Amino acid sequence: MAIIRRLIILLVVVSLPLAAGLLFTYDIIKIDWVSFMEIQSSFQPQEDPLPMPAQSVPIQGAAYIPNLGAPVNPVAADEASLARGKEQYEINCTICHGAKADGKGPFAVFLAPKKPVSLLEGRPLTLSDGELFLTITNGVEGAMPSLKENLPDASMRWDVVNYMRSLQGK
Ligand code: HEC
Repeated sequence: MAIIRRLIILLVVVSLPLAAGLLFTYDIIKIDWVSFMEIQSSFQPQEDPLPMPAQSVPIQGAAYIPNLGAPVNPVAADEASLARGKEQYEINCTICHGAKADGKGPFAVFLAPKKPVSLLEGRPLTLSDGELFLTITNGVEGAMPSLKENLPDASMRWDVVNYMRSLQGK
């Protein structure tokens, strides 16, 4: 009998620290350890983490150099480019500007104060290819997000420009 009692006491003594330790798992008792992930700055999707370093050239080549004006369209508007542009337009732009580019995308009603514009009339007709490219690249402050992360390769953005032009009948 005595040996059984001793065994039970031993079991209790051994398992107590284990039970105490278990309290710290599954956040029953939470200790805020400093972790490196927490002290890093965090960025929301589509937020620019870093300005482009001076004198650097993007790995796809210099699509444009900031503050040096709008670039010239290097991509011919052939059938392949228009097909790629249509695909990317439908993925990235239709939601706001609409499939027909009339500014009536399904998401447009939720946007305020600035509504997506029709790409078929007014200012978008007067913008050069390069200016349209920069609009996609940088977005419009307070209205349209920068889409360069959705269209990381500059040629994808030129394809969309070409497709926009074809919708405009140019
Ligand atoms: C989240 C919604 C949204 C998405 C997605 C979006 N746009 Fe826009 N876009 C806007 C809004 C809002 C404006 C109007 C800005 C204003 O009134 O100044 C605008 C304006 C424009 C303009 C006119 C810019 C100017 O200077 O007048 C062009 C061109 C344009 N968008 C092209 C595109 C293309 C191409 C895509 C896809 C690659 C796209 N947009 C995706 C919301 C969007």
